Amino acid sequence: MNFSLSSKAIATIKADCLVVGVPEKGDWPESTTHADEALDGLIKRLQSAGDITGKSGSTGVFPLEGRSWSRLMVVGTGKDTDRSYAAFRKAVIAAVTALKDGPSKSALIALADTPVNGEDAVSSEEALLNLIGRTLEEQLYTFTQFKSDKPASRKLNKVIALASGNGKALKDAFNLGLATGRGMNFTRDLGNTPPNICHPIWLAEQAKQMAKDYDCIKTEVLDEKQMEKMGMNTILAVGKGSTQPPRLIVMEYRGGKAKDKPYVLVGKGITFDTGGISLKPGEAMDEMKYDMGGSASVFGTMKVIAETKPKINVVAVVAAAENMPDGGASRPGDIVTTLSGQTVEILNTDAEGRLVLCDALTYVKKFDPEAVIDMATLTGACIIALGNHATGMLANNDDLANELLAAGERTGDRAWRLPLWDEYQSQLDSNFADMANIGGRPAGTITAACFLSRFAKDYRWAHLDIAGTAWLSGKAKGATGRPVPLLVDYLMSHAGK
Ligand code: BES
Ligand code: MN
Ligand code: ZN
Repeated sequence: MNFSLSSKAIATIKADCLVVGVPEKGDWPESTTHADEALDGLIKRLQSAGDITGKSGSTGVFPLEGRSWSRLMVVGTGKDTDRSYAAFRKAVIAAVTALKDGPSKSALIALADTPVNGEDAVSSEEALLNLIGRTLEEQLYTFTQFKSDKPASRKLNKVIALASGNGKALKDAFNLGLATGRGMNFTRDLGNTPPNICHPIWLAEQAKQMAKDYDCIKTEVLDEKQMEKMGMNTILAVGKGSTQPPRLIVMEYRGGKAKDKPYVLVGKGITFDTGGISLKPGEAMDEMKYDMGGSASVFGTMKVIAETKPKINVVAVVAAAENMPDGGASRPGDIVTTLSGQTVEILNTDAEGRLVLCDALTYVKKFDPEAVIDMATLTGACIIALGNHATGMLANNDDLANELLAAGERTGDRAWRLPLWDEYQSQLDSNFADMANIGGRPAGTITAACFLSRFAKDYRWAHLDIAGTAWLSGKAKGATGRPVPLLVDYLMSHAGK
């Protein structure tokens, strides 16, 4: 697929399909007016005849003859007064969805001058080009590796986005959007890969491949012997029940100054979560292949960073293990000493995510982090609380929390903060060790974060519970690529100019 930006006069840019936006109520954007002039008033005629309504997310396709374009697609962008970033995104998704299986080989998308409500960060031409780039990659994603009958290959192979000029800011924004979409798709590929292939060593190989593909990425992998020597006993305790050994995977990107403290991303990488001896019920257990979604989002974010090379230092750490119930597995009642020295009574082997993360959170102290953000499909309780729309967020620092919330708003990849009050900590009391690994049914997402917070005291830290947002179930089953947009936006906001 070839993506590019053009700032030539719309009538001079040839493409099989021209895509313009028409509001249900409000002023036409300049590109729509210019297209209408080039088409001798066709768009106005279609509107008066009722063929196009402008209703948000509607699309209409009309054949053309003897023009720079063989067809015209009109996308409804709704009422000017209602057009939020989310509403505009809906219109872009509708346009790309209509294009992707259509007959056009090439398309010219003229939507970046649509007036959108809200601050600059979500309404400027840069913001809209970023979103268009990301949406193109996101919506054109397929995962057909394991299908014998490959779907007929797509006709569309070239998309041009119209921009008002050819300045660097516009190009950078479009390219960052495309890179973000590709990063999300990498995250989705890793998540969708079946768990008999995607195991901890395979994840480590993906990291080594990243170091081969990008000179700016350095990868280091700790095997179970090295982890044993260091005392990472909780991640080992989780991996013990599987024939697939655990791995701690480190990827480093140093694009900032040597003295700049790195932003550290930590990902839960449970490549399959059976629950262990506290075995899960069978229904939809296949979806526990997505329990490495946190680590997949770390990989996807590092890919965006490697492609766009911002001036910032980023370290990624993935705690990878498979949670299985064989004869070597941890038992409920086992007590293990974490890398931090604190002891944990494992009362439920299905609360394994916090066990692999706690050693990783202790390990990352050595990088002297500016901030640490962990991503994890940590609790079913988070899905009960927030459903599939918001990522759960808990943090030990208000500034960090607010910045992450803002990054979520700017990208439509939203998070919602839950409290991390001391009052919840006592739910983790154990009769025999420093703490238990479960805190009972009330506030399950919060007590899981309380557990992690005990290993994250020495730096600014936020935890993203992506149990409800990393993948979709049902007919649309598949990884979403979240929260890559949120993470990329946050990191870019801290990159040097
Ligand atoms: N990976 C699961 C959480 C999960 C479950 C995410 C379903 C998405 C969908 C996690 O390891 C887990 O099993 N958590 C337990 C914790 C409990 C034992 C305290 C849970 O949420 O039930
Ligand atoms: Mn579990
Ligand atoms: Zn899990």
